This record gives sequence, structure tokens and C-alpha cells, in this order.
Amino acid sequence: MTAMGMGTTLRNQLNKRRSVVRGVGACLPERVATNADLAKIIDTSDDWIVQRTGIRQRHIAGPGETTSTLATKAAERALAAAGLTAADIDLIIVATSTPDYTFPATATQVQAALGITRGVAFDVQAVCSGFVFAVATADKFLASGSHQRALVIGAETFSRILDWEDRTTCVLFGDGAGAIVLEAREDSGAAGVIGSRLRSDGRHRAKLYVDGGPSTTQTVGKLRMSGREVFKHAVGMVTDVMTDVFEDTGTTAADLDWFVPHQANERIIDASAAKLGIPLNKIVKTVALHGNTSAASIPLALSVAVDDGRIQPGQLVMIEAMGGGFTWGAALIRW
Ligand code: UT7
Repeated sequence: MTAMGMGTTLRNQLNKRRSVVRGVGACLPERVATNADLAKIIDTSDDWIVQRTGIRQRHIAGPGETTSTLATKAAERALAAAGLTAADIDLIIVATSTPDYTFPATATQVQAALGITRGVAFDVQAVCSGFVFAVATADKFLASGSHQRALVIGAETFSRILDWEDRTTCVLFGDGAGAIVLEAREDSGAAGVIGSRLRSDGRHRAKLYVDGGPSTTQTVGKLRMSGREVFKHAVGMVTDVMTDVFEDTGTTAADLDWFVPHQANERIIDASAAKLGIPLNKIVKTVALHGNTSAASIPLALSVAVDDGRIQPGQLVMIEAMGGGFTWGAALIRW
């Protein structure tokens, strides 16, 4: 049988070159803003924010902290956790919608800050789904044999594109960065990224977008969102791609050890888990502490659950996200 004639599951089993997670790291800005802090500057309340979203606080970047500085610190911590140095890395992918500059790519700033002069560094832009898109992209590079070790980073400073007079959006988001090191291995056994699915549908642009840009307004712009409209689509979209990944990999929700979703809203997280029959005690939730950090939310949550000992080698971890575009996706990782 030719490779093209094989099913995806069989091909996955035969293709032994897999992208294995070697280390995880995170960086949060020092400054914390609680819901009570926000209630002093806009017409909102701790009760409303907690009940509608589960968020209790978020970190806000201070002077001197940018997306690339947070990303670089998260990357350094992921390298340390992996027992590797910057010289071991030949691929850097930064998922961000809040780059330091329109160009060059934030990933190249991280590359320079880490002192890396070989390989390639580039950004992916899929808003809140960015980290899942970056993991799937890095996995395809590593599986192809073109690259050996990747830093995959989600980093954002959404506080800088928020309209701080719009209570329907400014209470929801926070800043931060998380990173993982992925390594190509021929002998990984079952470990590694074992499946991923990415989707997008640009017809939904108006529901979640930034109202500025270099080619339109020549400004940076502010985030605009019809939260209720996004909410309506979120659960269906993320559970669809997770179901596809389960089918691709011959697994089911019952096989999961951990569900590490994008941390936008606790109600979306719980409804998605319930739809697939994932029990509450298998969900990693950091939304209360971090708010919605867009592309950074999944690697920040992974970092918390690895550091506190929940995620262990050999375990099956599902990540998923949905965001502006719309974009959405899921990836299944054997730790
Ligand atoms: O990460 C990318 C994807 N983004 C998301 O997943 C976000 C998805 N959407 C959501 O999480 C929710 O829709 C929100 C948390 C944004 C809003 O929750 P909701 O239950 O959909 O509330 P709503 O928009 O229907 O607003 C209900 C009420 C409104 O008042 P009226 O019109 O009923 O009088 C709002 O004006 O709550 C009011 N409201 C607020 N009140 C106090 C909106 N924002 C606030 C606020 N504080 N910050």
C-alpha cells in the first residue's frame, strides 16, 4: 500500500518521528490587577466578572515589559526545565497578536535576545488559537526532519490594545507568556504530539477584531468584541475539532488525563468539557488567576499544571482554543 492510501491513524503509528515536549516555562508581569482594582476605574463589579467569566485577577505588563521580553523569559525557563541551552534550538515560533512592532516578527527579537544565530524564527497570528496553531506548525517542521528542536511560545500584552473605557472587554484580558520546547525524536515510544486539527472561517471577523492596522488606519487600534456572539460559537467549534482529533488518533475523551483549554471563560470551558464527557477534575483552569491571555493562556496553564505535578510523563493531554478570525483548533499530546 502506498503512504497516500493509508489512513491517518495507521500513518501516525508508522511514522515514528514525533515532536516530544522536553520542558515548559512561563512569565507573568509583576503587576496584578484584581477585579476590585478594575471596579475603581470602570462601572463593573467583582461579582459580575466572577459569575460571568470566573476571572478574579489578571497580570498587566509594566513599563519595560513587552511581548518579546515576556516571551524571552518564558523561553529561558522552558530551556532550563528541558536541561537545554539556546544553542540547541533551530526553530522558534511565537504566537502573538500583540507583537512589539508591526515588523520584524517578535520571534526574531526573542531569537536575538537568546543569542541564537542559526535556524529560523517567525510569528503565527491566530489570536487566541495562536498557541495551538504554533504547536501544529512546529510539529510539522519537526516531523518532516527539517528541524530538530523548537521553542513554541504564546506571548501577549493585550492590555495595550484594550479600550479601558469599554467594560464589556477590558475586564476579560491579561498579559503573559508561556513556552514549550519540542524535540524531534525517532524513539519517543508513544510520547509526542499525536494529532492536531486547525480551522478558520474569516466570515466571523466582525465578532472579534482590532479596529486598526498599518494598511487601514495606520494606527494600532483597539480590541472590539461581541462577547455573546463569540460565546454562541465557541463550544461547538472547539468540541468539533477535539472530536476530529480523537477520531484521527483512535482515542476518546475517556483516555484523557488532562484537558488544558484556552482560558477565556470558565463557562465555555465547563460547557465544552461537559459536551465531551470530560470530568471536572481533569480540567486545568487558570482563568481565575490570569484572565484571558489569548495565545499565552494554554502554555501558561500547562506550566502551572507541570510545576504543581499534575501533568506527568506518559499522560495524555488535550489542548484546544478558539479566537478571532474565527480560528479554532486542538492538539493531542502524549507527555
Ligand atoms: O478568547 C477569545 C474568545 N473570546 C471569548 O471566548 C469571549 C466569549 N464571550 C464571553 O465570555 C461572554 O459573552 C462575556 C463574558 C464577554 C459576557 O458574558 P455574557 O453572559 O454573554 O454577558 P452579556 O454580554 O450578555 O452582558 C450581560 C449584561 C449586559 O447588560 P444588559 O444589556 O443586560 O443590561 C452588559 O452591559 O452585563 C453587562 N456587562 C457588564 N456589567 C458589569 C457587560 N460587561 C460588564 C461588566 N461589568 N464588565
